[in-house]
Amino acid sequence: MLAIAILAAGKGTRMNSSIPKVLQELSGTTLLERVLNSCNELKPDKTFIIVGHEADRIQQKISHIPQLEFVHQTPQNGTGHAIQQLLPILNGFSGELLVLNGDVPLLKEETIEHLISKHRSAKACVSMLTARIENPKGYGRVFSDDNGNVEKIIEDSDCTETELMNNLTNSGVYCFDWQRLSYILPNLTNKNEQKEIYITDTIKALSKAIHIEVDDSGQVSGVNDKKQLAECENLHQERLRNYWMKEGVRFINPTSSTINENCRFGKDVVIEPQTHLRGKCIVGKNSVIGPNTYIENSEIGSDVSIFYSVVKDSTIESNVQIGPFAHIRPKTSISNNCKIGNFVEIKQSKVMEGSKINHLSYIGDSELGEDVNIGAGTITANFDGEKKHKTKIGRHSKTGANSVLVAPVDIGEDVTIGAGSTITKDVPDKSLAIERSKQFIKSNWNNYHKSN
Ligand code: UD1
Ligand code: MG
Repeated sequence: MLAIAILAAGKGTRMNSSIPKVLQELSGTTLLERVLNSCNELKPDKTFIIVGHEADRIQQKISHIPQLEFVHQTPQNGTGHAIQQLLPILNGFSGELLVLNGDVPLLKEETIEHLISKHRSAKACVSMLTARIENPKGYGRVFSDDNGNVEKIIEDSDCTETELMNNLTNSGVYCFDWQRLSYILPNLTNKNEQKEIYITDTIKALSKAIHIEVDDSGQVSGVNDKKQLAECENLHQERLRNYWMKEGVRFINPTSSTINENCRFGKDVVIEPQTHLRGKCIVGKNSVIGPNTYIENSEIGSDVSIFYSVVKDSTIESNVQIGPFAHIRPKTSISNNCKIGNFVEIKQSKVMEGSKINHLSYIGDSELGEDVNIGAGTITANFDGEKKHKTKIGRHSKTGANSVLVAPVDIGEDVTIGAGSTITKDVPDKSLAIERSKQFIKSNWNNYHKSN
C-alpha cells in the first residue's frame, strides 16, 4: 500500500506575497499542481494534502483533481507537526508513506519511482532524496556515511559553523515505512532554533535511514522566496528549450525566449529572440516566430511568419504572414496564404484563404471570404454603444482606404468599396459602393485670399 502526503500548510513568509506559496505559478502551473503531477503514475491508495494557511483557497484551486483528501493542520507548527495530523487518519495503515514538500516543483516522476523501489529493496525505515548544492543556505544538511546510511539531518538554522560546510542537502522528499514512522512521530519535540516540530528529526530516531543523491540538483530545488522561484523558472525553461532543440527547433537567443510544456513544435521552427509562447500552442514546421512576439493558446500552421506581434486563442493556418505590430485577439481564424500587416487588430473574426489586411485596420466580429483585400485604414464599426454586430465581406471584394463598415452589414462578392466611404447598408454582389460627399473645387482660391 502506498499513501502520499504533500505538505502545503505553511505560511510561506519568505515569499512575501498575498498568494499562498504553493499556489505561486511556475510557467503557468502552481507549485502544488506540479508536485501532484510528479506523482501521476504512482497510483497511490491515498493522497493527502496537508493544508492550513489559506486552506480554502488552496483546496478550491485544486478541487478539479480527483481523489485528494485534505487534512487540516492548525496551527502550523512545522513539517513534523503536519505529518502528525495523519496519525488518527492512517491508524492501522501498513505500507509506505511518501512525503513531498509542496514547494519542490521540478521533481521528475522517475526519480520518485527510483526512490520508492530503492526503499523497498533496501527494506529501509526511511529513504530520502538528497543533492549536493553549491550554495546550500536554507537547506537541511544531511549527515551520512559512505554507504548512503543517514545518521541525522540538521536544519540550516541549527547548524554549527562546521556543520554548515556540509553541502549534502535534504530535498524534502521521503519514503517512510508508515508503521515505524507512526511509532516515533508522537515523540518529536520543538527544541530547535525555530521552535517547530521538524519531520527531519524523525531520521535519527529510525534505525535504517538511507539517502539517494540526485545527479541533477535542480530537480530538488525548493522554492521559498521569489529569487528561488525565478531560479526554478529558469531551470524549467532551460529543460524545455533543450528538449525542443533536440527535436529540431532553433532558438536564436535561447535565454531570451520562454515556452510552456504544453507547446508543440514542428521541425525547423525558428524562435527568434524575445518571443514567448504561453499555454497550449502548436507551431507547424518551418514557421518563424518573433522577434518580440507573444503567442498564447494558439495553433499556428507551417511556413508562417509572425513578426513583432501578439496572437491569443486563435488559429492561424499555413503560409501566413503576420506583422509587424499586429494584434490577433481571441477566437480569430486565419486561413492559408493570408497576409496581416502592420498595425492591424483582428478580433473574433474568420479570414478565409488568400485575404490581405495589410495596414492600419480594425476587423472585429467579421467574416471575410477568399481573396478579400482590405484597404489601409479600413474599420469594421462593430459596436453600436450597446451591442456588437457582424460584418460579412464576400470573396474577391476589396475596400478602399479609410472605409468604415458600420455593422451589421453584408458586403457581397466581387464588391468594390470606394476609399473614404462609410457603408451603412448592405452591398450586393459585383457592385461598387461609394458613400462620400462630392469633391468641391473653388478656382483661383489662392489669388482670392491675397486680394482680400
Ligand atoms: C524544509 C526542510 C529542509 C529541506 C527543505 C527542502 C524541514 C524542517 N526542513 O525546509 O530540511 O532542506 O525543506 O526544500 O522539514 N509546511 C506545512 N506545515 C508547517 C510548515 C511547513 O505543511 O507547519 C509545508 C510548507 O507549506 C512547505 C513544506 O512544508 O510546502 C516545507 O516547509 P518550508 O517552510 O518551506 O521548509 P524549508 O525551510 O524549505
Ligand atoms: Mg521550503
